[in-house]
Amino acid sequence: MRYSESQGFGVPHPWACMRIVIELVNIVKIYDQGAAEVRALRGVSLKIHAGDFVTIRGSSGSGKSTLMNILGCLDRPSAGEYFLDGENVQRLTKTSLAQLRNRKLGFVFQGFNLLKRMNAVENVEMPLVYSGMSPPRRRERALHMLKLVDLEQRAYHQPNQLSGGQQQRVAIARALVNEPQILFADEPTGNLDSKTGQEILTEFERLNREMGQTIVMVTHDAAVAERAPRQIVVRDGLIASDVDSYSGRMAPCGR
Ligand SMILES: Nc1ncnc2c1ncn2[C@@H]1O[C@H](COP(=O)(O)OP(=O)(O)O)[C@@H](O)[C@H]1O
Ligand SMILES: [Mg+2]
Repeated sequence: MRYSESQGFGVPHPWACMRIVIELVNIVKIYDQGAAEVRALRGVSLKIHAGDFVTIRGSSGSGKSTLMNILGCLDRPSAGEYFLDGENVQRLTKTSLAQLRNRKLGFVFQGFNLLKRMNAVENVEMPLVYSGMSPPRRRERALHMLKLVDLEQRAYHQPNQLSGGQQQRVAIARALVNEPQILFADEPTGNLDSKTGQEILTEFERLNREMGQTIVMVTHDAAVAERAPRQIVVRDGLIASDVDSYSGRMAPCGR
């Protein structure tokens, strides 16, 4: 059963979708390179609701990865405020930030980033190793996740025995094994041919629609971005447009 702040445990109320999971207020990121400082983000404000599927698009150098790294608590802004699930992220120590990341966030990268010497199910189990969950329970959960991405038949294959699309599905299963509140993906289709890329996108759409998974995806590809209900375009360190087709935010409900 899912917990919603307004309703407590029970059937999610439609208005629970109004719940804001990410709020950025005037985020600035300056990379200090001695004399030549780079203003990668110049004042970004945005809100993301539970259950949103958001793409962030922009040309190379526009600030997408910088924004993603801040959203994913992998980097800190130079100025501005970031509230993640109501918590002011700036106030947290490095250790608390890492814990928050492990507990609440999942990541999928362009290069899959699977451990080569481990098979699919062992890769998916990795985020659970420090969770205190028993090994049999971990295995059971990891297999369940592989089934979710339709890869249970490949559980004991090494990454090099899998196609690019299959490796990315293993990476998605790994990102979701902790039931993250938000799934971040940085160019997840960037290393795949267009047909496989479309299949991976369909997978994200399904996770969003059927499980209410909140997804934030970075892409430079307009065709990829335009499949999402909400599309943010970043240009020169600022939000150039934010097209939101969620009407009234009645559905879907997310974690
Ligand atoms: N670690 C860094 N140090 C200095 N400049 C950086 C660093 N990372 C990114 N930049 C600069 O910040 C700007 C935005 O980069 P980035 O966020 O990687 O863009 P994108 O992901 O949209 O291609 C670029 O001008 C880039 O050169
Ligand atoms: Mg980038």
